[in-house]
Amino acid sequence: MEKRLKNKVAIITGGAQGIGKSIATKLAIEGANLVLVDVNLEVASQTAKELENQHLISTLVFKVDVSNYKEVEEFINVTIEKFGKIDILVNNAGITKDNLILRMSEEDWDKVLNINLKGSFNCIKAVSRFMMKQRSGRIINIASVVGLMGNAGQANYSASKGGLIALTKTVAKELSSRGILVNAVAPGFIKTRMTDALSEEQRKKLTDVIPVNRLGEPEDVANAVWFLSIEESSYITGQVISVNGGMYM
Ligand SMILES: NC(=O)c1ccc[n+]([C@@H]2O[C@H](COP(=O)([O-])OP(=O)(O)OC[C@H]3O[C@@H](n4cnc5c(N)ncnc54)[C@H](O)[C@@H]3O)[C@@H](O)[C@H]2O)c1
Repeated sequence: MEKRLKNKVAIITGGAQGIGKSIATKLAIEGANLVLVDVNLEVASQTAKELENQHLISTLVFKVDVSNYKEVEEFINVTIEKFGKIDILVNNAGITKDNLILRMSEEDWDKVLNINLKGSFNCIKAVSRFMMKQRSGRIINIASVVGLMGNAGQANYSASKGGLIALTKTVAKELSSRGILVNAVAPGFIKTRMTDALSEEQRKKLTDVIPVNRLGEPEDVANAVWFLSIEESSYITGQVISVNGGMYM
């Protein structure tokens, strides 16, 4: 079958593991060359090697904290030097530091907002200069269902994801006329390290309120990102695609 993203260059932040790795795998299957950016260089390098060998693509790996603009600007410049262009940016790096609002420290608020929201701003700002010159690009931000509905114990996280959705719409308004499409994917509860921490009882309670009656798989999210990366989604911008089994409509 024809590879839909052959010779495209895709950056995936937080691409070492979890949902980011699944997105990287899906785009690699379609022939995209990958730039994996993560604070965990060891695991990111392992993932890149694995995907290079399995899918005969080229990869670059960078140890970058997305909340640091200088580090972001540097890896984007090296990416342009090596690949000459950037077709797809997936802002996937994200963390949680949960607590009820009264117990949430200022430090934990700042940390989550800096990585999840400012980190995405940093990457968007740094790539958009090049995408504008190319007059093409896709930016896909990984938000969350809690950015739409809120969640007790996640003031910092839900605010960061709600902010990311507003950022998506704003940047779509600024850049779509230049050929750059900007969308968000809002996953529900997905089986990863983040949700491994749930007890059996919590898991049952959760699946009871999900119409399709299961947690999501990382591949469910990757499939939505894939669709937003290919030619066939070229009339979609500023949207939030929910991948949540119907838990929030
Ligand atoms: N797991 C879920 O149920 C779920 C639900 C909704 C949204 N999401 C979102 O999906 C994304 C991926 O989540 P996941 O479950 O795969 O998490 P994960 O912890 O498995 O992976 C996140 C990756 O981001 C990297 N990372 C963390 N801080 C970073 C930083 N400052 N700079 C660069 N990289 C950094 C981590 O090292 C890790 O490799 C996150 O944005 C998360 O908020 C997850």
